Amino acid sequence: MSIYALEPPVEEGARQFYFMEKCKELVRARSEKLGRPLYAMIQTFGCQMNERDSEKISGIMRQIGLLKAAGEEHADILVYNTCTVRENADRRLYGRLGVCKAYKQANKDMIIGLCGCMMQEEHVVERIKSSYPYVDIIFGTHNIFRFAELLYRRLDSGSQVIDIWKDTDRIVEELPSERKYAFKTGINIMFGCDNFCTYCIVPYVRGRERSREPRDILREIERVASDGVVEIMLLGQNVNSYGKGLDTKITFSELLAETAKIDGIRRIRFMTSHPKDLSPELIKVIAGNEKIARHIHLPLQSGSDRILKAMNRHYTKEQYTDLARLIRSEIPDVSITTDIIVGFPGESENDVDDTIDVIEKVRFDGAFTFEYSPRSGTPAAKMEQLDREFVQRNFDRVLGTVQRISKEQAGRFEGRIMEVLTEGEDEKDPSRYTGRISQNNVVHFPKSGAGIGSFVNVSLDECMGFYYNGTVIGEAP
Ligand code: SAH
Ligand code: SF4
Ligand code: F3S
Repeated sequence: MSIYALEPPVEEGARQFYFMEKCKELVRARSEKLGRPLYAMIQTFGCQMNERDSEKISGIMRQIGLLKAAGEEHADILVYNTCTVRENADRRLYGRLGVCKAYKQANKDMIIGLCGCMMQEEHVVERIKSSYPYVDIIFGTHNIFRFAELLYRRLDSGSQVIDIWKDTDRIVEELPSERKYAFKTGINIMFGCDNFCTYCIVPYVRGRERSREPRDILREIERVASDGVVEIMLLGQNVNSYGKGLDTKITFSELLAETAKIDGIRRIRFMTSHPKDLSPELIKVIAGNEKIARHIHLPLQSGSDRILKAMNRHYTKEQYTDLARLIRSEIPDVSITTDIIVGFPGESENDVDDTIDVIEKVRFDGAFTFEYSPRSGTPAAKMEQLDREFVQRNFDRVLGTVQRISKEQAGRFEGRIMEVLTEGEDEKDPSRYTGRISQNNVVHFPKSGAGIGSFVNVSLDECMGFYYNGTVIGEAP
């Protein structure tokens, strides 16, 4: 008798390896019957958190013997990892689900799975149950590590499987993961968010803030480094509050300094910094360590004190601009990027003028500008909403300022020789590579001996607006 005929183990990691073996047997049997391998695909919407979660689901897919599908229509198992931060993210998923119906008509054994942030909303799951009954598996953000178990349940029972957890305090370590890139990856340092900005749905769909133990994080980084990863991005909704609630007393700056000591890791990025918690120590650690990218993403959201208060952001316009000034003076050549929301309830033209004033003072190197989108269950969604045309006009003003300034900023490295991590082939010209400097600006350059994943010194000859054309001077030591 195989050990897998026994009851599933209780300990979560062992339990999931048990179900991976069970799935592997079913996948093998089905592929023998069909006389071909089975293929799987995961499509990811949203932020780096979701990208990283998808790498974990891909790892499980590979572990159970599913090969990578060349396109959605070739997949025997297709999973959408969803985002719900703004309404248009939701609309995109419903559009895709319509297409899935046609896939299923062509391949009736195809399995469609949905997971991620959108699935944590009750009204979404209800709508899928009633309008898209051909979806096979629905799970959320807290139990992605259970993908094999849920897939097994679906294959075994033949009926729709829904498993959504409201929250979790569990962090499951040591499960397989398949990196999208060989040379760079995201590393979760914390999950969830406790900030409850009044416009934002993330705390509701990602749960309470939980930090991972530093030894688990550092061990994972050592492992990926020995695997050839040279750039990592430390991930959390608010990395500056890392360490709260852990037995080990540690701050984000300390974690960053420890990370920088790991051999093989040559560039460290992190996302996202909340301005209220960014400490002078952190600025010092970045300034004193060349491995840490000269790039800080520091979401502003609004430049108006009144709106910042209504958003529950816990800083003022002046505190933000002071912080940005300190960062620029302590870290030469740093690039500062941001997120801005236009059209929050009650926002007036004067409030928008304040936002524009901050853009001009800080001179952002890049900014994502979003139109405010009411999210159900958040406090701001219950406030009186603004006229869309009024919001659109303000949005255009903000966007115009952001574009003008970031274009001016982009040119500031023209003529310099800088270290570039080669990330891939230039999509428009296969004789060239594309890569990024520490500040995150994109550079295109003619291919040289060193390939994807290597650092090269590049002369940034010409700024083309949002990217540079350069020439390779030599391999970076
Ligand atoms: N944790 C990060 C942001 C995560 S969401 C932080 O605190 O900065 C990414 C961005 O989406 C936010 O910075 C915000 O600008 C935007 N966003 C979040 N909710 C939104 C909403 N309801 N409408 C429009 N933009 C929103
Ligand atoms: Fe959302 Fe605010 Fe948390 Fe960022 S810090 S995820 S904007 S609630
Ligand atoms: Fe979207 Fe969830 Fe990220 S809502 S932005 S995928 S945390």
